[in-house]
Parts: sequence; C-alpha cells; structure tokens
Amino acid sequence: MTRKKIVAGNWKMHKTLEESQALITEIRGIVRDEIRSNTSVIICPPFIALPAATRLLEGTDIGLGAQNCHFEDQGAFTGEISAGMVKSTGAQYVIVGHSERRQYFGDTNEITAAKAKSAVRMGLHVIFCVGETLAQREDKSYFRVVEAQLQEGLFGLDRKEFSHVIVAYEPVWAIGTGLTASPEQAQEMHAYIRKVIATHYTDEIAADTSILYGGSVKPDNAQTLFGQDDIDGGLIGGAALKARDFVDIVKAMH
Ligand code: PGA
Repeated sequence: MTRKKIVAGNWKMHKTLEESQALITEIRGIVRDEIRSNTSVIICPPFIALPAATRLLEGTDIGLGAQNCHFEDQGAFTGEISAGMVKSTGAQYVIVGHSERRQYFGDTNEITAAKAKSAVRMGLHVIFCVGETLAQREDKSYFRVVEAQLQEGLFGLDRKEFSHVIVAYEPVWAIGTGLTASPEQAQEMHAYIRKVIATHYTDEIAADTSILYGGSVKPDNAQTLFGQDDIDGGLIGGAALKARDFVDIVKAMH
C-alpha cells in the first residue's frame, strides 16, 4: 500500500490577489518551520491567484490546485477556464465535482466525467468530490448516490488515468455547517468507496487511492477523523483560510 496522506485547502470564492499572496506566504512559513512529515500539502486558491501562487511556492513541497475547470479543452465558452489553462499557471491539481458546483452550477455526473477526462488529458491530478445530501443520508440512499457519482462521473477514466485521481468524500450536510460526519460514518463510506474502486479497477488500485474526508474539518476534530483506516487526509474549506488552523490540521495527520 503506497497511498499518500494529503491535506488540501479549498479556499472557495475567498481572497483577492493580495490577500491570497499574504495567506500563501504565511502558510509557506509555518509549513517550512513545523511540518516534518510525509503528508502532502495542497492549496487551492481562486484562479486569479494561481500564477502568483506558483512563484510563491517555488522551492517548497506545497502543491497547488484550481477549484474547477471546463469540460472542453478549449472553445467559445466566454468566461470559462480550461484544464490546459490551469496547467499553464503551474498548478498540478484541480478539484472536480465539488458539491457547490453540483448544486449551484449544474455540474452533473456527465459533466464531472468530461471535466475529469480533460483535466487528466492536460496533465493535472484530479481531486474528485463525492457526497450525499442530508435528505439522501436520511432516506438511506447515500451508498447508491456516491456509487453513481463514481460510476457515472469518474470511472470513464482508464486505469492509467485513474492513477491521477484523489477522491474526497464530502457529505453535503457537513460542508460549512459545523456538522461533521462521525469518524465511524466517514470510515464506513470511505471503506465503501474503496470497495467500489476495487470492483471497477483492481484491489491494488483501490489500496493505492488516497481518499480524503471533507466537511467541517477543524484542528480539534481532525485527528480522530484521520485516525480511521480508510481516511487518508482531508479537504478543508473554512479552516483552510486561517494559516494556523490549516497547518494544525496538517499536523493532525502525524
Ligand atoms: P468546510 O468545506 O471545511 O468549510 O466544511 C469543505 C469543502 O467544501 O471542501
């Protein structure tokens, strides 16, 4: 088993260019002084900060990602950003299928499948988000929902392409709400996701895939979540906007 431990920060629609540069500089300093583990740290600031972030992160081990990309490689799509454009900034990752994209911007499983394909084709790693709503948790359809998100929205990738994928389980009811899935609930879903990957690809591929948990991860709950067998790290929203909290969450990975 060689899968990586990863903590990624999703800044969402926060921080101007100047503010982004200040936060990156702060995170870079604390990570350099305090992190001595093999946990990969990734930050995903807004698009406008990516080129400056690449320069600020040069010579560090901190990875850089975008929060979205278009599903076509290029074309007449006013206002959109392609995976190739993301790659050209120096970023190495892109988040695909975040629930806010699914909820507010109509990203269906079909669209996430095309985005994942384009991203991998352009040489990016994909942080692919899945997760059920509160209604789906309550009506007990959550395994089925997450399985469909994987089957229809991601598994169009072949084995080689899939080696560039990190999965993030983010129950929608836990995002930005202060509600966190219990470590048992999260572990149950992570183990299920790994089983679905093993069935579609191979046991080895499933064992090598990093599966992150996201949804109100904070410094004080990170350690118990990360202590679960199938939880390989976190995708952090609100707490990633404070350098101290974000790095404390990385430290909880030890
Ligand atoms: P949160 O967001 O940590 O603020 O709940 C997580 C995410 O949406 O990626």
